[in-house]
Amino acid sequence: MAKMEAKTSLLDNMIGVGDMVLLEPLNEDTFINNLKKRFDHNEIYTYIGSVVISLNPYRSLPIYSPEKVEEYRNRNFYELSPHIFALSDEAYRSLRDQDKDQCILITGESGAGKTEASKLVMSYVAAVCGKGAEVNQVKEQLLQSNPVLEAFGNAKTVKNDNSSRFGKYMDIEFDFKGDPLGGVISNYLLEKSRVVKQPRGERNFHIFYQILSGGSEDLLCKLKLERDFSRYNYLGLDSARVNGVDDAANFRTVRNAMQIVGFMDHETQSVFEVVAAVLKLGNIEFKPESRVNGLDESKIKDKNELKEICELTGIDQSVLERAFSFRTVEAKQEKVSTTLNVAQAYYARDALAKNLYSRLFSWLVTRINESIKAQTKVRKKVMGVLDIYGFEIFEDGENSFEQFIINYCNEKLQQIFIELTLKEEQEEYIREGIEWTHIEYFNNAIICDLIENNQTGILAMLDEECLRPGTVTDDTFLEKLNQICATHQHFESRMSKCSRFLNDTSLPHCCFRIQHYAGKVMYQVEGFVDKNNDLLYRDLSQAMWKANHSLIKDLFPEGNPAKINLKRPPTAGSQFKASVATLMKNLQTKNPNYIRCIKPNDKKAAHIFNDALVCHQVRYLGLLENVRVRRAGYAFRQPYEPCLERYKMLCKQTWPHWGGPARDGVEVLFNDLEIPEEEYSFGRSKIFIRNPRTLFKLEDLRKQRLEDLATLIQKIYRGWKCRTHFLLMKKSQIVIASWYRRYAQQKKYQKIKSSAIIVQSYIRGWKARKLLRELKHQKRCNKAVTTIAAYWHGTQVRREYRKFFRANAGRKISEFILQKIIQKYFLEMKNKMPSLSPVDKNWPARPYLFLDSTHNELKRIFHLWRCKKYRDQFTDQQKLVYEEKLEASELFKDKKALYPASVGQPFQGAYLEISKNPKYKKLKDAVDEKIIIAEVVNKINRANGKATSRIFLLTNSNVLLADQKSGNIKSEVPLGDVTKVSMSSQNDGFFAVHLKEGSGAAGKGDFLFSSDHLIEMATKLYRTTLTQTKQKLNIEISDEFLVQFRQDKVCVKFIQGNQRNGNVPTCKRKNNRLLEVAVP
Ligand SMILES: Nc1ncnc2c1ncn2[C@@H]1O[C@H](COP(=O)(O)OP(=O)(O)OP(=O)(O)O)[C@@H](O)[C@H]1O
Ligand SMILES: [Mg+2]
Repeated sequence: MAKMEAKTSLLDNMIGVGDMVLLEPLNEDTFINNLKKRFDHNEIYTYIGSVVISLNPYRSLPIYSPEKVEEYRNRNFYELSPHIFALSDEAYRSLRDQDKDQCILITGESGAGKTEASKLVMSYVAAVCGKGAEVNQVKEQLLQSNPVLEAFGNAKTVKNDNSSRFGKYMDIEFDFKGDPLGGVISNYLLEKSRVVKQPRGERNFHIFYQILSGGSEDLLCKLKLERDFSRYNYLGLDSARVNGVDDAANFRTVRNAMQIVGFMDHETQSVFEVVAAVLKLGNIEFKPESRVNGLDESKIKDKNELKEICELTGIDQSVLERAFSFRTVEAKQEKVSTTLNVAQAYYARDALAKNLYSRLFSWLVTRINESIKAQTKVRKKVMGVLDIYGFEIFEDGENSFEQFIINYCNEKLQQIFIELTLKEEQEEYIREGIEWTHIEYFNNAIICDLIENNQTGILAMLDEECLRPGTVTDDTFLEKLNQICATHQHFESRMSKCSRFLNDTSLPHCCFRIQHYAGKVMYQVEGFVDKNNDLLYRDLSQAMWKANHSLIKDLFPEGNPAKINLKRPPTAGSQFKASVATLMKNLQTKNPNYIRCIKPNDKKAAHIFNDALVCHQVRYLGLLENVRVRRAGYAFRQPYEPCLERYKMLCKQTWPHWGGPARDGVEVLFNDLEIPEEEYSFGRSKIFIRNPRTLFKLEDLRKQRLEDLATLIQKIYRGWKCRTHFLLMKKSQIVIASWYRRYAQQKKYQKIKSSAIIVQSYIRGWKARKLLRELKHQKRCNKAVTTIAAYWHGTQVRREYRKFFRANAGRKISEFILQKIIQKYFLEMKNKMPSLSPVDKNWPARPYLFLDSTHNELKRIFHLWRCKKYRDQFTDQQKLVYEEKLEASELFKDKKALYPASVGQPFQGAYLEISKNPKYKKLKDAVDEKIIIAEVVNKINRANGKATSRIFLLTNSNVLLADQKSGNIKSEVPLGDVTKVSMSSQNDGFFAVHLKEGSGAAGKGDFLFSSDHLIEMATKLYRTTLTQTKQKLNIEISDEFLVQFRQDKVCVKFIQGNQRNGNVPTCKRKNNRLLEVAVP
């Protein structure tokens, strides 16, 4: 689609005319002007039909970018503006798609841009053909062969800074897919004379300068070279450097290219060694040396260079030296050695240099071919690219054998161009029976014949001269020419028969002139014989063969004495003729594509268009004739069958099948398309279309129709696809719908069913409830009736029987029953009474609830009664004891820790039986009252807390203290003077008896005792004091209390927890104010 939109035509935005066929009017001026106009607008390419004219722009134009490649890729030849890529694309596609081998013939004079064009074609094909690692390597090798061959085979000439000094034909081979497989290069006649001598303003082959400029010091040292052009005689000095050419950089490119192409390091090294050897050969100089027998002899001036060459090439120095001094001629088992004079020695030296170099060049081509040759044996499609040296004329008459050969080759190419385009075209019209007006054109076959005719041709005569015994010189050759060719209209010389030439002073005696198709060229006859002979003395080739250098040895196989061949090798001329003939044959089998290069000026400058120069080239290239033939004839022809096959879709009758003969089909087709009759003709087997535009129109229609057909196919396919899809969807839809409907109905039914059940249940419920209500009502009615009836009956009965009952019989009965129950209760209680012990807690359970309070009251009364009974048993003595105990309990219970232990102890009072112990008679006598307590206590010493035993007596009115041993009364305190008793709350027997201040007994202060019966003593003291004084004795229970000792008050403090003296509490005076009692 995008392509269609971007579609352009040759006719779009055309500057001048893109195709000369369309030029109006057609003459030389308009032709040149058209070229000029286009050239001025950077349009360097112009077509003549399918031939591309290319003008050298002498500057880089932005028209070879990858984008341009894409633009021209797969496009119709006339679709875009003229370009070398269009031709390359056309050639490549018809090779790939139509299986036609192609050749691209690039012609033009030196500097016209042939080599550049060939590289552009190759790079375009490389860009558009297949991709992949292997293919890319092949492409790379093919492309990289160019820099290598250019370095060794190109040189700067006055016409071109990078002039190809050899002819090159390269076959690129492709597989059936159009992927490159490899290639074969053929080279033609290297201009080897350049090795030893270059015309003014020209250089030797590039490689010499490249090595010297770009070789590393190491390489130069190995090659025994110096980085100085002036050191080498073979390097013309006047133009050693070329503007805009970097020899050093090019050398790196060449080395890199050699590596890519597949040269081994040692091979590259050998090649450079040979180049160095050639360069150094030029420096060998000879000097004459006269011999006695009068023969001239030469001698090498300075053997140093020779020595180095021999070291470099592994040749025995003496062998080479001899080869430069002698010449051995072998004839019929006879060997004759003659000495070489100085001139001959120089000749031998130069011949060796030229041969070495030219053979090296051929070896390089063979070596490259080895690398790039296709690896498979499958059938290959071939595209040949011919870049052969252009027609060459040196105006100063310096044209020599090489120019003669080069120009001969160009004649042959022109011939093939004429044959294939002009002649072939006209002949085809005749063959096909098309009406045809003959176009005059110059057929150069006559010139070819002048040169190559086997009997009378110049080359044949040159060979004859060379082989002829006797003295042969260039002059004898010219004489021969004068004899044989004198009448030929394209040959001129001073001696030719035609008298008008005799007066032609512009033609020197030693020259002859040939009127080539491209112009007249004057050749210097000097050197023809020599160059044709291409003589290398056998001694030299043998010396080379003996070299200890495998490459040099290979270059001179004829030097091998075992293979000595006395036959003369073929002459240079005949070799060239043969190879040109092979080339022509090869080209004739292929479909030709022409690129005709034109040089716009002689100055190698951009933007300059020299009309005269271009006009000259247009003339000799026969371009005008070319246009005329195209215009007079038909631009396009094709056999009927493929034509009908290609366009049959454009007409209803022929589409899709045409039953009749193809010719009729085409006729019907063209009539149907209303193509004007003058636009085409019917040949015997082909249709001829006059104008390219008609063809474009057909092509456009076809393209349009193809698109329509594609749309139709698409439409039908899409229709079919949609319909099948639709039917499938429809079928699926029905299945889905039926399933869905089933499901929906099922759901609906279930819903209706459940609703019906609900409605039913409501109705049934309602009905049931109604019935129930009715039944209940009925039942209640029945019950009410029964109740009413019962009451009614009751009333009736009571009314009837009232007269039989006493009025309050019911109350009486209930009272009676109550009485019976109470009676039974008491009777049962009598049997269930608990024991009389006041501590017995048992009490029988209550039988009736309503007797609860009675039962409890009974329990209380019983307990009180039983206690009274118990108390009634006590004697007076016991009563007293219990009173005391009770008193003790009230005083000390829960106050003093010692108390619980005292409960079980009976209070004895008189522990000490004074009356019975005679010791205490005096004491007994002194006390006349009743003794309540007699006991031994410990009196605590106030000073140190130590205890002293004392007898403690309590009588009804006094407290007495007496010595335990003697029984003497120590102190007597009336009970009225005792104010307070203090004791701790702890488990100890200490107590203080406080006395009333100012009383008689209080002189020494309060008493502090300790006793085992503290509770009993304190209780009895309390009771006695109460009875005696009617006052309650103050009993203070505290762990810290003050005791009056004489004047001082001492604090008695009880501390818990001293275990040191076992369970006995200890008393210690701590200071004046403190007495500490430690209680365990
Ligand atoms: N298409 C082009 N674009 C830019 N420069 C070009 C183009 N064609 C040729 N040239 C320039 O012209 C010079 C000569 O071109 P080229 O070497 O191709 O000539 P030739 O026809 O091969 O000459 P010869 O017969 O001497 O080998 C190139 O070195 C280059 O500078
Ligand atoms: Mg070239």
